[in-house]
Amino acid sequence: MTRRLATPVGITATGECFPDRIVTNEDLAKMVNTSDEWITTRTGMKLRRWVEPGVGSSDLGSGALKMALDRRGMGADDLDCIIACTVTPDMMFPCTAALIQQKVGASKAFGFDLNAACSSFLFGLTTGAGLIASGTVKRVGVVGCDVMTSIFDKSDRNTAVLFGDGAGAAILEPVEEGYGLLDYEQQIDGSGAPYLCMPAGGSAKPASHATVDAKEHFVHQQGQEVFKNAVREMANVSRLMLDRNNIDPKELTLFVPHQANLRIMDAALKRLELPREKMACNIAEYANTTSATIPTALHQSVVAGKVKKGDLVVLAAFGAGFTWGGALLRWAV
Ligand code: ACO
Repeated sequence: MTRRLATPVGITATGECFPDRIVTNEDLAKMVNTSDEWITTRTGMKLRRWVEPGVGSSDLGSGALKMALDRRGMGADDLDCIIACTVTPDMMFPCTAALIQQKVGASKAFGFDLNAACSSFLFGLTTGAGLIASGTVKRVGVVGCDVMTSIFDKSDRNTAVLFGDGAGAAILEPVEEGYGLLDYEQQIDGSGAPYLCMPAGGSAKPASHATVDAKEHFVHQQGQEVFKNAVREMANVSRLMLDRNNIDPKELTLFVPHQANLRIMDAALKRLELPREKMACNIAEYANTTSATIPTALHQSVVAGKVKKGDLVVLAAFGAGFTWGGALLRWAV
């Protein structure tokens, strides 16, 4: 059954923000025992952006939201709600949405954080759209922002090569009938928690000297288990979006998967029987920016003129939890 909103809601503008510092595979090979060849063939990554010390997710997130507001020709005061999607909040509290609200000057907005790991932006998009469809708000800024350099071990080659810092944003508003978010699917399965997590720093295991010494404030993952599940679920959910809406893959203009590994993305593409040109792909330039991969890849496709009003777009995500989901949109602007 399709999950259609009572009121049509769509993305009316996008934005992005990345730090200036570019880190190449060769730079990483000087830090850990790795090579450009290994990283490129196993992941498709070439470059990533890393923040300078002191820059938080709210700095990147507010930059992306400001760009989206400018592109829409909208003032920050026009926003009713900010949803900050992140696994790397500036601090445990207050929420990153509050810091973004203050930085962009959205004096009339309320807001909150949403953490579903790499599925955060997709879940934020459907949550924001649901708020608008309920009639309680009109304009929502959904921001995917992560400073992954704050939570991985730069001396561990298993994770140090995989991540970058960045933010993407989308403005959601009511749109014409037949446009915007046409359907979505979202799933969560906590049995996947041990395979991808940051073990300490929360209520179950607060920060202590022992947790720091044991490097438990970094991303821990069993890469192959994550890989296997991500391939299956991203491919399934992408196909589901088309099948249950009777859409032939050829009718799709753009496929925007979460960018964790080019091999995972290609597997999903194969299930959709789509050529590479139809996939939004920025993994080579930015690596895995967690909550920011989908909105930045989408934004870059919009800027490149690859999406126009009426085009069909599928978003697909998979992340820690495990969490995963897909969304089908008819581009509204
Ligand atoms: N350079 C060189 N060798 C490496 C590197 C590296 N950077 N990293 C690992 N290796 C080695 C391993 O040590 C291992 O060596 P060994 O055989 O001597 O033990 C070998 O390469 C193979 O390791 P695998 O883990 O089997 O490699 P795999 O092909 O599975 O690729 C990867 C690893 C890229 C991590 C892959 O499993 C993957 O992409 N998994 C999914 C990751 C993902 O989606 N993460 C989401 C996190 S985002 C979030 O939700 C916060």
